[in-house]
Amino acid sequence: MQRKIRMALTKGRIEKAIIPMLEKAGYGCEGLKDKGRKLIIPTDGGEFEVVFAKAADVITYVETGACDIGIVGKDTIMENGSSFYEMADLGIGRCRMVLAAPKDANFFDGYAARTVASKYPKIAADYFARKQMDVKVLKIEGSVELGPVLGITDAIVDLVETGKTLAENGLEVVETVCEVSTRLIVNIASLKLHKSSIEEIVDRLNAAREDK
Ligand code: PRP
Repeated sequence: MQRKIRMALTKGRIEKAIIPMLEKAGYGCEGLKDKGRKLIIPTDGGEFEVVFAKAADVITYVETGACDIGIVGKDTIMENGSSFYEMADLGIGRCRMVLAAPKDANFFDGYAARTVASKYPKIAADYFARKQMDVKVLKIEGSVELGPVLGITDAIVDLVETGKTLAENGLEVVETVCEVSTRLIVNIASLKLHKSSIEEIVDRLNAAREDK
């Protein structure tokens, strides 16, 4: 018997934002909301099953075909891969990737070697390469604001949503690197094999966008 369509869903903020959207699209989510420690759960109507995963793992599961569909931030896509179809911008999880530095630091002034902290070394390196600037990127796994606060980097490249974390740590936006939102991605072979089932899910989620 063929397995159900499988969706890899980024745990945390994206999970919280997508569940009301799935409900608005007509998919029962009681099981997803009350998942306990289970990692694979079907929608209440059994239309597809959901795998809860960390952001970068969503990409891995979709690229390998372990999951047919992925719900993941554009930041993770830019940092980790592109061997899949990006089929929809879901309009949730909106934030910005920015270069931020201590207030009044004038990051772009002078010729001294600079270092930035980031959870996104590829995005940061690509950004400075576009500017033809030789900047060292130090990979930090979380709370990258600590880089400049502890004095080990000049700035950070990180996500900003409300701006509260920057403000509370004496940092300010120097420049926006790119806009970020949650995307729906699809495994390349899955789209051929399960075209109508996948397109139905994409269409129903597109129609459930808050801004439509
Ligand atoms: C993200 C990001 C910032 C913060 C920005 O971190 O890395 O630190 O949110 O949000 P704000 O502009 O609304 O203050 P997250 O909370 O996901 O935790 P992490 O740093 O451990 O990844």
